Amino acid sequence: MFLEKGQVLWNKKLCSSYFKLGLKLSGSFYDAKPGQFVMLRIDERIAPLLRRPFSVYRIIEGRKGVEILYRVVGEFTGILSGIREGECVDILGPLGNGFSLPKKDSRVFIVAGGIGVAPLVFLCSYLIVEKGYDSSTIKVFLGARSKDDLLCRDDLSSLGLEVAITTDDGSEGETCMITSPVEAALKKARPDMIYACGPSGMMKCLSEMAGDYGVACQLSMETVMACGFGACLGCAVESKDANKYLHVCKDGPVFDSRDIRF
Ligand SMILES: Cc1cc2nc3c(=O)[nH]c(=O)nc-3n(C[C@H](O)[C@H](O)[C@H](O)COP(=O)(O)OP(=O)(O)OC[C@H]3O[C@@H](n4cnc5c(N)ncnc54)[C@H](O)[C@@H]3O)c2cc1C
Ligand code: FES
Repeated sequence: MFLEKGQVLWNKKLCSSYFKLGLKLSGSFYDAKPGQFVMLRIDERIAPLLRRPFSVYRIIEGRKGVEILYRVVGEFTGILSGIREGECVDILGPLGNGFSLPKKDSRVFIVAGGIGVAPLVFLCSYLIVEKGYDSSTIKVFLGARSKDDLLCRDDLSSLGLEVAITTDDGSEGETCMITSPVEAALKKARPDMIYACGPSGMMKCLSEMAGDYGVACQLSMETVMACGFGACLGCAVESKDANKYLHVCKDGPVFDSRDIRF
C-alpha cells in the first residue's frame, strides 16, 4: 500500500456526469490488479472530506500512472470534476483483493451495471492483453439506466468482445434489467465463472442466479468507506456465516457470491 501525490494528467468529461481521471504516479501503482481500488483525497483546503474509494479502471500505457472512471454523485466527486490538469490528488493504494482469474479457456460472463463497468474493463483487458485469453470465451453484459449511462463500449469492442446491452428506459439495447439476458444465456450454456459489479439489486439477483444454476460468481461490492484498509470497520457487509461480518476494503471488494448475505 502506497500513499502518493498523483499529478492530474487529464480529467475529461465523457458524457452527462461521467469523467476519466488520469493520474501520473510512481511505479508502486503499476502492479494493481483488476478489482483493486484506490482511496483519493483532494487538498483539504479545497475539500475537507474523507478519502473516497475508486476502482482502478486502467494502467496508463507506458506505465505512467493509473486512470479512474468516475460518476459525479455528491460533494467529493463534484469537487473532483473541477480539478484541472497539473493539479495534485492524494492517492492511497492499491487496496483490497482483486478478482481471481479463471483457468485459461474458461467461459466467462462479465456483468456490469452502470459505473460498475470500471473494474470490469480492467479485468477484460488484463485477461486478453496481458494474459492472452481468447476474447471469444468472454461474453459481456452491459446494463444502464439510459444510453448516456452506457460506458466503455469502445474499450470493450476494441478488445473484440461481444457485448449485450440493456437500458431501463429502452433508449438503447433491450428494455429490461441486465439480469434478463444473463439468465437467458445461462439457460442456453453455463459459463465457468460470472464476474460482476453494479447496483446492489443486480448483485443480489446474480448471486441467486449463480446459486440456482451452480455457476461460480465473483462480485465486486461497494459500500461507503472511511479508511480503506481495515481500521474503521465502517464498510462491513453481512457474511453468510451467522453473526460474521466481512469488511469490503480488506476482505474484498471482490467476494465469492456464496460468502455474502444480501
Ligand atoms: C471499492 C469501491 C470502488 C468504487 N469504484 C468507483 C468507481 O470506479 N467509480 C465511481 O464513480 N465510483 C466508485 N465507487 C463509489 C464512490 O466511492 C462514491 O461514488 C463516492 O465515494 C461518492 O462520494 P461523494 O462525496 O461524491 O458522494 P456522497 O455525497 O458521499 O454520496 C452521494 C450519494 O452516493 C451514495 N454513495 C456514496 N458512496 C457510495 C458507495 N460506495 N456505494 C454506493 N453508494 C454510495 C450516497 O449514499 C449518496 O446517496 C466505488 C466504491 C467502492 C467502495
Ligand atoms: S473502510 Fe475502514 S475498515 Fe473498511
